[in-house]
Amino acid sequence: MKKCNKQGVPTIDEARLLLKEAEDLFPGPWVQHSLWTAQAAKLIAENYEELNPDVAYVLGMLHDIGRRNGLPNGITTIGHLLGGYNYSKKLGYDLLAKICITHSCPSKSINDIEEVVNKTCSHEDYKFVEDFFNKLEYTDYDKLIQLCDALALPDGFTLIEKRLIDVALRHGVNEYNVPKWKAFIELKNYFEKKIGKSVYSILPGVIENTFEL
Ligand SMILES: [Fe+2]
Repeated sequence: MKKCNKQGVPTIDEARLLLKEAEDLFPGPWVQHSLWTAQAAKLIAENYEELNPDVAYVLGMLHDIGRRNGLPNGITTIGHLLGGYNYSKKLGYDLLAKICITHSCPSKSINDIEEVVNKTCSHEDYKFVEDFFNKLEYTDYDKLIQLCDALALPDGFTLIEKRLIDVALRHGVNEYNVPKWKAFIELKNYFEKKIGKSVYSILPGVIENTFEL
C-alpha cells in the first residue's frame, strides 16, 4: 500500500487495517485509547500549521501498535515500545517506528521507561534504548503524540492529571515520575502557545469525561 507521502507513516486506510489486525491479536482498552489519541493529535494539528493532521492522526492511531504482541501474558512498557519500533521498521515506516518508542518518554530520558529504572529489562534491550536515546532528536510529532497519549483514556479525552494518576495506579511510581509529569505539563503548555488556546477547548467531551458528568 501507498505510504503517507514519504513521511514514514502508513496511509489512514492502512493504519485502520493495521490497528484492526492488532486488535484481533490482542484485544483490549488500548485500542479505543489509541483512537482517542489519534483524534486529539488530529485536532491539535489542525490548529498548528507546522503539523499535518493526517500524519498526526495515523501516528496517534498506531503509537501503541507494539501491543499487538501482547498475548498470552500481557506486555511490558519496554516490550510494547520496542515491539512497535521493530514492527514499524519492518514495514518501512521509520517515523512511526520512532514514535513507538518516544511516545512514552516526555523527559527524553531512558529513565522514562519503568523497566530501565527497575532493571527488569534485558541487557540487550537496555543497550538498544541507551543507544537510541543518545542519538535522539525530538520533533513536534514526537511531542504531539506524547501529549495526546496523556490526554486519552479508553473512553475519551481527559484532564492530563487524571490520566497520569490512572497510569500511576496501574503501574506504580518511581523517583522519575515527578520529572516525567512535569514534562507532560510542559508539553501541554508548549502546544497551547503554538495553537493560541487551551488544548481542552478543542477536545469535545473532555469536561463531561473527566468529571463523569
Ligand atoms: Fe498510549
